[in-house]
Amino acid sequence: MLYLDNAATSWPKPEAVYDAVTDAVRRGGNPGRSNSEKARAAAGDMSDARAVLAQLFHISDPARIVFAMNATDAINLGLQGMLKPGDHVITSQMEHNAVTRPLAYLEDAGVRVTKVETDPVKGVSLDGIRQAICSETRLVVMSHASNVTGTLNPIEDIGGICREAGIPFMVDASQSAGAIPIDVAKMNIDLLAFPGHKSLLGPTGTGALYVSETVSPRPLRSGGTGVFSEVRLQPEQLPYYYEAGTQNTVGISGLCAGVRYILERSVSSIYHEEQQMLQYLIDGLTAISGVTVYGPLTSPRAAAVSFNIDGMDCADVAMILETYYDISVRSGLQCAPDTHKMLGTFDLGGTVRVSPGLFTTEEEIDTFIHAIKEITEDVQ
Ligand code: ALA
Repeated sequence: MLYLDNAATSWPKPEAVYDAVTDAVRRGGNPGRSNSEKARAAAGDMSDARAVLAQLFHISDPARIVFAMNATDAINLGLQGMLKPGDHVITSQMEHNAVTRPLAYLEDAGVRVTKVETDPVKGVSLDGIRQAICSETRLVVMSHASNVTGTLNPIEDIGGICREAGIPFMVDASQSAGAIPIDVAKMNIDLLAFPGHKSLLGPTGTGALYVSETVSPRPLRSGGTGVFSEVRLQPEQLPYYYEAGTQNTVGISGLCAGVRYILERSVSSIYHEEQQMLQYLIDGLTAISGVTVYGPLTSPRAAAVSFNIDGMDCADVAMILETYYDISVRSGLQCAPDTHKMLGTFDLGGTVRVSPGLFTTEEEIDTFIHAIKEITEDVQ
């Protein structure tokens, strides 16, 4: 089986991730809930995970990393915690439903949403952001990379605009965290939402929100924290303010091992290797007549590559790949209808998305390109 759906969730994981998950579930323990050796070991795993994530994203205080179920959960905390009726929020036209749906609910509750013009190759318009800012703007929220086309938004420039205007900046790093270097200080990111199970190589059910000292979103949930139990509301200390109830300690132990693996290989070498692999894939695809590739055709980009074959439905292409070639990709709108409207692929039902991962080889890309050539020749 050839797995090319890493934008949905990465697979395989490093051996150390499987081992860490197994060890944690066998060991047990609920952090902060007792002074048992198990509870202390589980708490140690959580603080190790915060420490390695802080190192990866250049975060000075690991306690400001709040664990969540996934990136969507982290984004919901950021958006619902930061915005109230009467506020204005700026976003792009290439967001995943993880951003657009919470914003749609907020819009119905009286938040004004501006979706700034976005180019499939260059990303969101910086002038568009500058023009959209008004006295009610309370947040700018953008994906770092499109989950459909791999298009990168100019995060550092957007961060600069936000800093100048005094507006908090939230980044959805679902398709970049672990694969593309991120420095929250340099990029002026106030809120960074990311999943643990994609390029950070952890298990599903993990993710986090980094909350800088410049912002204080309202908590989404309340409940037990194991410590400060005498306080009526959520204790204001981080991460407890946002982490109510027993956390996914088993998943977080696996995530910690995944991030350690990335730090050992270094995110900048992973990034450079991945850019070469993506170029090889795109060159192979664009050389096939009848194939249209959307988004950036050269580096820098993220590892989601979308295409269509003339005269074929994207779902049929994915089904043929799965059934006859044992190759896994994702077709359709990929939970990002706005992006497909921007690309002009909404009415086509979307695209075929191929997403190689850290362990994909050049030979596997050759196998994939060969399959697409055969499918294309059959339809012509
Ligand atoms: N957001 C993930 C994807 O793009 C699940 O496939």
